[in-house]
Amino acid sequence: MRKIDIFDTTLRDGEQSPGINLNTAEKIEIAKQLERLGVTIIEAGFPASSPGDFDAVNKIAGTVKNSIVTGLARCVKNDIDRAWEALKVAEQPHVHVFLATSPIHMEYKLKKTPDQVVEQAVEAVKYAKKFFPLVEWSAEDGFRSDREFLVRIIEKVIEAGATTINVPDTVGYATPQEYGDLFRYLKENVRGAEKVKFSAHCHDDLGMAVANSLAAIENGADQIECTINGIGERAGNASLEEIAVALHIRKDFYQAETGINLKEIKRTSQLVSRLTGFLVPPNKAVVGKNAFAHESGIHQDGVLKNKQTYEIISPELVGEGEVPLVLGKHSGRAAFRDRAQKLGFELSDEKLNKAFEEFKKLADRKKEITEEDLITLLTEQSVSIENIPKFELNSVQVSYGTDNIPTATASVTTPEGETKALAATGAGSVEAIFNTLEQLVDSKVNVLDFQVTSVSKGRDALADAVVKIRYNDVTTTGRDSSQDVLEATAKAFVDAINRYLFHEKFVKKHIAQI
Ligand code: KIV
Ligand code: ZN
Repeated sequence: MRKIDIFDTTLRDGEQSPGINLNTAEKIEIAKQLERLGVTIIEAGFPASSPGDFDAVNKIAGTVKNSIVTGLARCVKNDIDRAWEALKVAEQPHVHVFLATSPIHMEYKLKKTPDQVVEQAVEAVKYAKKFFPLVEWSAEDGFRSDREFLVRIIEKVIEAGATTINVPDTVGYATPQEYGDLFRYLKENVRGAEKVKFSAHCHDDLGMAVANSLAAIENGADQIECTINGIGERAGNASLEEIAVALHIRKDFYQAETGINLKEIKRTSQLVSRLTGFLVPPNKAVVGKNAFAHESGIHQDGVLKNKQTYEIISPELVGEGEVPLVLGKHSGRAAFRDRAQKLGFELSDEKLNKAFEEFKKLADRKKEITEEDLITLLTEQSVSIENIPKFELNSVQVSYGTDNIPTATASVTTPEGETKALAATGAGSVEAIFNTLEQLVDSKVNVLDFQVTSVSKGRDALADAVVKIRYNDVTTTGRDSSQDVLEATAKAFVDAINRYLFHEKFVKKHIAQI
């Protein structure tokens, strides 16, 4: 069996999706889960792009031990210096430098000749090698580049010390056969190809990112760059879970394995979906709600007689299935702490106590608490940032009747510590809540998207609300959960406002995103 390295870029390419704005605590939580999942490399961010990205990459590099942590850098000294500052604490410092190589990118974006691009790439790799033992070099828009030019520049960056060569299909234009051919061609024609790892990085504009990644593996790629739930620029990146499960289920064909702990897939997918606010479509392969549901009578009959008639992946393989919790309303703090630790949460006493209080409240109201409910409560505490002034929702009340005008009232503590009472009406209960909480800021808040889903099953399930807003030209996504749909909605709206404040204070990007 060949070993294929999984390079996860959820926290970098995935985080570039519009409306995703994870804070450092959330990124660390995702990175720890990616480590549990067993990915080889975690791309934690782009350190030179903002102080927020720098901080997250630095903290993740100091936290994660069993996966290599990397950061993105353009082929310029300052980016590489920032990456080194952020990553020098890592166990195996790794940097990912990139430069565009396609005619259209070189002429219009970089305004450089091919010779100048070769020179810049070589200088950057040599410079990065002074600090980093592991240097990946990417030919941005590699698929649309001239093959002869690709061979020439790759040979030069290998001579300069690159240890991995990534050839992305940046715009999602390739077909599997073409992308596979390109890898075969490069492996056969690049001098020194045997000294480096070849990596594939596919975008999903034509819905072929996973197929293209698998074609690259068939033709010699040793590493695949992908994201959880396939999130990423535009239509997204190749989806990690689909690639890992495809290689596992069809190992007879691919003869390759990834080292991914498949049982952690569902939990990772749910965590990323909850923290980014990007819901997973029900029909999404491997992690969608319906991925294992058999609806038609003929299928159900077949599955009852023999599961393999219609089921090629067992739900248990990817950690799917409701696990009822042995903990109940009479459970004590020690049992709760023990369970939290077993689930991989390392919370301060203060956060653990808060999570325990929430658990007790929920246990009073909900018949059966599932492991998923518990993970939701613990995640909320684990990613909450203390010591940053923000709005807190103290209470919310909504009056609704079919013949009345819906009215919401709320009590909120401001970042300055004052308590404010607010009220407004709306065409429906949700609009009344939004109109009420909008008064926390100076002008109109545009609600771009609003969704509520249930965390687990049943009529008493926890509700997860996601509100995407645009305010002062900044898009943020707020989310929160509660047993009540309207309370979850109000908390999610306040969270979106807090993320705007956080963005203004700490995150503002220094350079345009790629
Ligand atoms: O899609 C792409 O080309 C990228 C590079 C920065 C590797 O994300
Ligand atoms: Zn990309």
